[in-house]
Amino acid sequence: MKPGTVQQAEKTCSLEEETRDPVLSVEHLSKRFAGVEALRGVSLEVPEGSIFGLIGPNGAGKTTLFDVVSGLLAPTAGRVRLGSRDVTGQAPHRVAQLGLSRTFQNSRLFGHLSVLETVLVGQHRRAEAGLRGLLPCFRREHERALRAEARELLHMLRLEVVAERPAGTLSYGDQRRLEIARALATSPRLLLLDEPAAGMGPAESIEMSQDIERIRARGCTVLLIEHQMNVIMRVCDRVAVLSFGQKVAEGTPAEIQRDSAVVECYLGVGGQQSSTSATARS
Ligand SMILES: Nc1ncnc2c1ncn2[C@@H]1O[C@H](COP(=O)(O)OP(=O)(O)OP(=O)(O)O)[C@@H](O)[C@H]1O
Ligand SMILES: [Mg+2]
Repeated sequence: MKPGTVQQAEKTCSLEEETRDPVLSVEHLSKRFAGVEALRGVSLEVPEGSIFGLIGPNGAGKTTLFDVVSGLLAPTAGRVRLGSRDVTGQAPHRVAQLGLSRTFQNSRLFGHLSVLETVLVGQHRRAEAGLRGLLPCFRREHERALRAEARELLHMLRLEVVAERPAGTLSYGDQRRLEIARALATSPRLLLLDEPAAGMGPAESIEMSQDIERIRARGCTVLLIEHQMNVIMRVCDRVAVLSFGQKVAEGTPAEIQRDSAVVECYLGVGGQQSSTSATARS
């Protein structure tokens, strides 16, 4: 055997393992707020290249799971892995550097920035890293490339015509898509979307489904919280269902639709509505 062959074989093996790893693994994740068990031992794996749905009644713990995974909140127990890296409890900027980006349930745009500026600001971390040490002529070239990429994102999310408008003057649907464009500006490997189609009518939510499919087609894995079942059924490869902080079901959209535990958690058992709070059973 030639010198270096073993090393090469080990390298190939570890690369294969890396690609076999789910892009996100959540293991026995729990989060307690004073008296409220928002997450109780939730485990799930999001395969690379998939669109993975996370559904459940109001207060089920969906946004809390996003907050823990993205580093905004530390879990009470459990682990979070991005690929093979353990990122449990790491700061949001560190988790973002490792390829995770997200949108929020409620709009967090700076209304005075233009649409294009909003996406350019989203790119700033990559811009800073790329510009460091470059000669002025190469800096300009790098900036031009980033600007072209920002415009391409706006085109993909149907925002090109409003590129120069202040973000605060956009329609609600355009603002939701701008938040997605800004999240994509970091070129994430995994994008978390928290109710992107909330408040949208049937036609708009079909367009949002198509936008999400285009995002996946660019090679970005998507973890999607959504109450609009038409969106979940249309785009997701797999769906996990949370109820009172626990995972009660997981499967394909068709399997989830037939699952009696899912029907129960949405309709309430014995007349008890389950869409209130995670405290109800804890
Ligand atoms: N910062 C916090 N402090 C205290 N309790 C919280 C906090 N954040 C969330 N909770 C509680 O945790 C539980 C889960 O909330 P979460 O926002 O994760 O639910 P959700 O599934 O996203 O609901 P929705 O569909 O309404 O957005 C709820 O009972 C909520 O009141
Ligand atoms: Mg939520």
